[in-house]
Formats: sequence, C-alpha cells, structure tokens
Amino acid sequence: MKKVREKNEYEGNPVGLSKETATAMAKELDRHLASFIVLYHQYHKHHWLVEGPQFRDLHLFFEEHYNEIHEQYDAIAERLTVMGYCPTCHPANQLKIAYLEHEEEGEFRIREMLNKDMDDEKSIAVELRKSIKKAFEMEDFATKSLLEGILLKTEDRCHHIEHFLGEDGLSIGLIAKPSDIMEDGGAEESKSKGKKKAKA
Ligand SMILES: [Fe+2]
Repeated sequence: MKKVREKNEYEGNPVGLSKETATAMAKELDRHLASFIVLYHQYHKHHWLVEGPQFRDLHLFFEEHYNEIHEQYDAIAERLTVMGYCPTCHPANQLKIAYLEHEEEGEFRIREMLNKDMDDEKSIAVELRKSIKKAFEMEDFATKSLLEGILLKTEDRCHHIEHFLGEDGLSIGLIAKPSDIMEDGGAEESKSKGKKKAKA
C-alpha cells in the first residue's frame, strides 16, 4: 500500500489556525486520545469482572462510563483531524504517548478497581486543565471549549465513583457487627434473634 500522508505530516487546516497552534494543540489532543483509550479498556475490564451484591448497578455504571469515554475520544480525534494532523491510531504507539497506564491483567477487589478508575479520572482532569490553559493562551477557542465540556463530564464520573466508594450503604450490615452501627450496641437485635432461635 502506498501512503498518501505520513503520520506527522501537516496538511494545513481550513479554519484559520496557525501551524504553530495546530501543531501544539494536536500534540495535546493526541495524548488525551491515547489516555482515554487506556481508560476505555479498563472500564470494559471492570464491566466484565465485577461481581457481588451490587453487580448490576456497577456493571451498568462501567458501561455508561466506557460509552461516554468513547464519545469523548472520538470527538478528540476528529478535532485533531480539523487541525490538519493524523491521530495516533496504532495501540502500541498510543501507549507510548498515554499518561495513563493499563491496569495489570487479572482480577482485583472491586474497591481497588474503583480506586484505580477514580485516580485515572483525576489524572485526566489534571491533564485536561493544562491543555485548556494552553488552548486559551494560543487562542484555539474551539479546542478549549471542547476540552472544557469533556472536563466537566470527567469530574462528574470521578465524583460518582467517589460515591460508590463511600462507607455508608444498605450493605453495611454485611460487613459490620450491629454494635458498630447501632446506638444500643445491637442489644435489641440480639434479643430478637434470640427469640427467633427459641421459637425455632
Ligand atoms: Fe457488556
């Protein structure tokens, strides 16, 4: 196959962005694209492996996240083509420029998996803010606006994971003794359990 264009070849853009701005912002967008794809795979993994009493909620929660991430990195890649550049498409090359790392193979406790997702969302938020600042300084207002929208949703995802990791919940009785959560130290509960036992 004969290549029409090399990966880093600039083809110009029809929207009046200078080559300097297009080149700088395309580089920013490319590393976000690569990192979002890492998180996309990770959410799939967690969607497949989650189990336990909250299986269905979490299974669907992860699915919502990978769908949203997919829409976002698609918009990032398309913006990159507006700039006159070719997005990094090969997975091995994406890994070289991503600022997120893939989770190791194998299964982990659900809280650990959620913690890794939350940390990664936080890293994305931090990196997006840097690119938004740069886009503003270079007067690339459309990229700034695109990334701001993505940042808002990223912060929402991060916050929702934090809620899943909260310590309160209906399942607390499964992991704590009544004395840990009841003012009377669980005396009432012990009494009623005793009665049931006596009846049986
Ligand atoms: Fe599925």
